[in-house]
Amino acid sequence: MPFTIAIDGPAAAGKGTISRALAQEFGFAHLDTGLLYRAVGMKGGDPVQAAQSLSPDDLARPDLRSLAAGVAASRVATIPQVRAALVAFQRDFAAREGGAVLDGRDIGTVICPEADVKIFVTASAEVRAARRFAETGEGTFAEVLEQVRARDARDMGRAYAPLRPAEDAMILDTTDLSIDAAVAKACALIAARLT
Ligand code: DC
Repeated sequence: MPFTIAIDGPAAAGKGTISRALAQEFGFAHLDTGLLYRAVGMKGGDPVQAAQSLSPDDLARPDLRSLAAGVAASRVATIPQVRAALVAFQRDFAAREGGAVLDGRDIGTVICPEADVKIFVTASAEVRAARRFAETGEGTFAEVLEQVRARDARDMGRAYAPLRPAEDAMILDTTDLSIDAAVAKACALIAARLT
């Protein structure tokens, strides 16, 4: 039976860790939709064409998790035709038998408005920048914080599919939570829905 979990939220709030843990715990498939936008941003050339011709090789690039890829992704993600080109792939993934977890910015609002469970994962910009800084080791903390804020502004301010919680999303603020505690909360939410 398809069962779709939509996880949205700003950069470095813990979406990826929580989504992977949920997929593992409940035996669901996981799609990190940010990787699609990162791959489009890093492919170069016309972003709309890049989105329309995205291949498994593009998604296997080793540099997709870099800060530069995140910035490039956030830029191409403002283009409606880029977003439109990626919708079908995400919806097909969500509809697979056996359950799926998708994480991104617009999963609960645009890609899967009928998702069985929606969680909006958030945290303060400072805490998110500290996590990203520790994870990538790139630049200085001040630079990473500035990038996090710029990315928030772009992701929330864009006209098409902006980052915002769906009306029926549960908010999970991880500012003062350890990863383990955040994962445990999310698992409890899903377990309650599955019984
Ligand atoms: O989750 P991430 O940091 O890998 O996402 C990188 C960028 O891609 C993010 O700043 C905005 C864009 N994105 C989006 O617009 N919609 C999604 N569903 C996922 C990512």
